[in-house]
Amino acid sequence: MLRVVVLVSGGGTNLQAIIDSIEAGRITNAQIVAVISNNPGVKSLERAEKAGIPAFCISPKDFERRELFHEALLARLDEYEPDLVVLAGFLVRIPEEMVHKYSSRIINIHPSLIPSFCGVGYYGLKVHEKVLERGVKVTGATVHFVNEGMDEGPIIAQKAVYVEQGDTPQILQRRVMEQAEWQLLPAAIDDIANGRIRVAEGKVIRKED
Ligand code: GAR
Repeated sequence: MLRVVVLVSGGGTNLQAIIDSIEAGRITNAQIVAVISNNPGVKSLERAEKAGIPAFCISPKDFERRELFHEALLARLDEYEPDLVVLAGFLVRIPEEMVHKYSSRIINIHPSLIPSFCGVGYYGLKVHEKVLERGVKVTGATVHFVNEGMDEGPIIAQKAVYVEQGDTPQILQRRVMEQAEWQLLPAAIDDIANGRIRVAEGKVIRKED
């Protein structure tokens, strides 16, 4: 059974998609052992508690220095001995030490088709604002392994979503979540839990049946 820790920052709709997929048997061989948020009082913590999952807030605001926040985050993570760490709308840059320690065991969902609209400053609603500003007609979401770079790790899966006339950032965000994110992220977890993918030379390879 794959031990999964999910890191979140806000609403937690992707977390909910994972919880629901486990309950419905769309994800097998995996269990969420803890949820950690960097923000207090967010809906994602409520969602975790409702599902009976241990939920914690570790806020950078409670620490004098960034390193102390990083230490606390890593210590809590280590306590749960995860096989997989899922960044499900975790909008804080994770410490490099964590990337090394959990190398090839951290995945992230990003609300665009990487390498477009990603990197520093591209997170949450901002991504969709930039998409609309640029006027592209197709956007989407990407689930990828996390490495030292920002949104640069090996890509596991992507799904395209059309931008429509009259979209606001909020409307587009919702469509990208519904049509792409909530499917891609659970499917990637299921693939990892069932040994269907591996990384070779910086790329994700899907094993033949
Ligand atoms: C999601 O759209 C996710 O892709 C994005 O934050 C949102 C969180 O929503 N993540 C990033 O932008 C990471 N760079 P949620 O809390 O409802 O899952």
